[in-house]
Amino acid sequence: MIKGIFPIEKFEQLDTPFYYYDMELLRATLQAIKTETENRPFHVHYAVKANANSRLLREIASYGFGADCVSGNEILQALECGFPPEKIVFAGVGKSDKEIHIGLDNDIFCFNAESIPELEVINHLAGEKNKKARIALRVNPNVDARTHKYITTGLGENKFGINEEDLPATLEKMSGLSNLKMVGLHFHIGSQITDLSSFEDLCVKARKIQQWFLEQGIALPILNVGGGLGINYQHPNHFPLADFEAYFRLFKKHLMPEPGQKIYFELGRSIVAPCGSLISRVLFVKEGIQKNFLIVDGGMTDLIRPALYQAYHHIENLSSIEQNEPYDVVGPICESSDVFAEQRSINRAKRGDLIAIRSAGAYGESMASRYNCRDIPAAYYSDLL
Ligand code: LLP
Repeated sequence: MIKGIFPIEKFEQLDTPFYYYDMELLRATLQAIKTETENRPFHVHYAVKANANSRLLREIASYGFGADCVSGNEILQALECGFPPEKIVFAGVGKSDKEIHIGLDNDIFCFNAESIPELEVINHLAGEKNKKARIALRVNPNVDARTHKYITTGLGENKFGINEEDLPATLEKMSGLSNLKMVGLHFHIGSQITDLSSFEDLCVKARKIQQWFLEQGIALPILNVGGGLGINYQHPNHFPLADFEAYFRLFKKHLMPEPGQKIYFELGRSIVAPCGSLISRVLFVKEGIQKNFLIVDGGMTDLIRPALYQAYHHIENLSSIEQNEPYDVVGPICESSDVFAEQRSINRAKRGDLIAIRSAGAYGESMASRYNCRDIPAAYYSDLL
């Protein structure tokens, strides 16, 4: 019985819902990644969008990892939490002038640029400051990530990146933009990828595109292969860590970096998802006609993944060891999609029981909203409770 990993007596004193972060698990995860990357030309930039909580960011920065940001505010937050500017990359299909200024003024490592008009604007704004902006061109590799369609980004019909056929025109354009310095290529095919063969396809494609650049006389010091490594949402207690060993081995084998070339990774979910749980309290057990509803005080404003992506999160009743019963676990928000799980078997529940929704450390707190004027959930940490 894994309930022992949660300090339930301490939870009893706290207002719900809240996020609880297992800092030991986060550290074990960071150490596992460090072990897999330190003797390779591999550099991990944590995808801040997964969770921008400052306590977590400081912990991740302390292991020497960089930050992958997608907004000006994420850059400021990363800097504030100890990521050095030379380890910050800035991606995003629609960077505003204000955000580009933030990147330039703070001398971040590079902009992952996604279109010719964006390159022109960055060139112009850098020129005004007498700076040269480092650029990694985001190329759409047209590789199927075999994941949910909302989180597939590397297929032809997506809004992200420059299509392969547009690369010659992009290079020609760049040759006239004297305030830009090309440092590499950027790819990202999607998120929650559990079929690692998609990454193999990405490697094959990245090598092919790199070869084309070499033929144009352009060396690429950096290949950024994005993020996307999936975690096991079904069995968080048995598989608390993503398979980092297999993931990094695959890139070493199939990407075959050139001598001196650096490979960048932008992992988000696999770093922070397992360590976070959304803790809620049962408000009411409502007997329906054909099923029972467990109405909890956390809702889609605290964790939107089930409502938005039909995502599965393992759910545990921390207060009960009675026999399992099936419930529809629902939140209090005025939306029919405010459902965490349907017909989920958990220990028999009563009003006041504490419910843990697991693997919620990524895209949970960072996607929380104030819909219905609700509070943003608080965060507590295993080492500070
Ligand atoms: N790099 C880029 C360019 C990205 O767009 C993303 C995620 C990442 C890295 C990090 O991917 P990760 O390692 O976390 O899979 N809200 C959705 C996921 C959206 C992912 C967006 N991009 C969810 O809750 O499943």
